[in-house]
Amino acid sequence: MEPRCLRLAILASGRGSNFLAILEAIKQGRLHAQIKVLISDKPDALALQKAEEAGIPHIFINPRLHPDRQSYESEIVKELQSREIDLVILAGYMRLVGKVLLQAYPHRILNIHPALLPSFTGLHAQRQAVEYGVKFSGCTVHFVDDGMDTGPIIEQVVVPVDPGDSEDDLADRILAEEHKLYARVL
Ligand code: GRF
Repeated sequence: MEPRCLRLAILASGRGSNFLAILEAIKQGRLHAQIKVLISDKPDALALQKAEEAGIPHIFINPRLHPDRQSYESEIVKELQSREIDLVILAGYMRLVGKVLLQAYPHRILNIHPALLPSFTGLHAQRQAVEYGVKFSGCTVHFVDDGMDTGPIIEQVVVPVDPGDSEDDLADRILAEEHKLYARVL
């Protein structure tokens, strides 16, 4: 029997390169899934433009039109449920996830972080790694809980930090691995 095609939703706030890498894996037949919608909290996110160009349904949901996170996330959940989404994929989504989303999709929300968790959580993980002077960093795919980059780890890839690396050098090297890792984990 054919495995059921995973119905994915992407939540993204930024440039959307992980979204595009997942889409490419689907097109190449490496991942049996469909991206049913991309949702962004930023009206000018490049990810929305990339979704438009790729013909993927995309929505901007404005958090400012909501009195609190619960109300904002309820609107997201409504969009996800109407599309019968199986997995919610955070790809550069710059908000903490709250209980409305977590309760609607228990153990079905994944995130990718550009460091070897539990090291270097939060913003500028690559800069933190360079400044700390670690010799190896990497990326992590994990289940999302209500903390910042704290949920159970699913898979990691190690990336060396070369002497003299700038934050951008390391970010580029990690990003190339992120693009392979996310599709593989899914
Ligand atoms: C990635 O580095 C990811 O690990 C982090 O945010 C960045 C998103 O990049 N969570 P992109 O929008 O997928 O290009």
